[in-house]
Amino acid sequence: MISFVNLTAQREKYRFELEKAEREVLDSGCYIGGPQVQALEKELSEYLGGKIHTITCASGTDALTIALMAMDLRPGDEVIVPDFTFIAPAECVALLGGTPQFADIDQETLQIAPESVKELIGPHTKGIIAVNLFGQCAPFKDLREIATEHKLWIIEDSAQAFGARTNQMACTFGDIAITSFYPSKPLGCYGDGGALFTENEEFAQKIRIIANHGSAGRYRHEIIGMNSRLDALQAAVLRVKLRHLDEELAVRRQNAAKYDAYFTEYNSTAAASEKIVPQKIETGCKCTYAQYTVLAENRESFIEKLKAAEIPYCIHYPAPLQEQPCFNIPVTLCGMITTEEWSANRTTGAKWASEHAISLPVCAFTNVDEIIEKLKAHL
Ligand SMILES: Cc1ncc(COP(=O)(O)O)c(C=O)c1O
Repeated sequence: MISFVNLTAQREKYRFELEKAEREVLDSGCYIGGPQVQALEKELSEYLGGKIHTITCASGTDALTIALMAMDLRPGDEVIVPDFTFIAPAECVALLGGTPQFADIDQETLQIAPESVKELIGPHTKGIIAVNLFGQCAPFKDLREIATEHKLWIIEDSAQAFGARTNQMACTFGDIAITSFYPSKPLGCYGDGGALFTENEEFAQKIRIIANHGSAGRYRHEIIGMNSRLDALQAAVLRVKLRHLDEELAVRRQNAAKYDAYFTEYNSTAAASEKIVPQKIETGCKCTYAQYTVLAENRESFIEKLKAAEIPYCIHYPAPLQEQPCFNIPVTLCGMITTEEWSANRTTGAKWASEHAISLPVCAFTNVDEIIEKLKAHL
């Protein structure tokens, strides 16, 4: 049976290094903070070019919450987030009493659309959370111009994109950037974990204080903070995996290129109603392929074929965020709404993507040749 992300094969390959690192932590008596966490933070900063401060924490969701707290988000403040992504960016804004404003996405790249961001800016807008969706970099050049013009901050959600790059590395575009070390992420640990990155010394200090109960010194609490820390065992695991990240990303990209070639061939003879188009990756972007996502004209029929071929798949994401019941938009009271009901001034790109996007296995331990053979036999 093919797995969507083959973490057991990865563990098998690095078993010797991982077990040595894990044993050292377990024998050290130091399980929270300490040398492993410090060394990981230094190595992550070095990976990003050296100028960046790295502060690890307990998850990508915590990292987003801490970043928003560092930006002093207040109840009533508005933050622009993409409407097609994982819930966390919008959830964290709402959790802190802010209001997420949902921007549309580009239907081909699936990234936040700068034109839509512009339309949402109003007197209460404080910032933008730009997500590097599926491991491709968001259009930061345009976003930065908008942010500068309107005096907004940018939080870069790179939960799926640590290791991606365009003219610069992902995690260095935002005023604060975050990532997630959830096990299935391109750089994942064996539990929950996350990190924040910033070039700004003042933000870095504030982030450390917020993540440590609002405390800069022992038992003195300057502000209300939270308890969010990466434990030493996860740090040790991540240090091993970081050493292999670039070689794994290279294999992910090779796997994606094989799928791209296959779908080009498939589309050359497929009926328009059965076309399957890979997410467009902008020229010059080195994507992490957190997952390999295609847009299937007829997703239901594609799913039936994947099931018959025993190829695992995931739907990232089945609805635009503003359609989620928690955001309480009146029209959703009767359940999910159809494209026709989705009025023209709403996020039509996000709605379309939620109805057509589907992701295939792509990690460095996936046998994509085998999957393509199966696709050829069933499509
Ligand atoms: C885009 C995005 N942001 C934030 C998160 C949250 O990360 P975590 O699961 O580590 O809290 C995720 C996790 O899937 C994500 O995909």
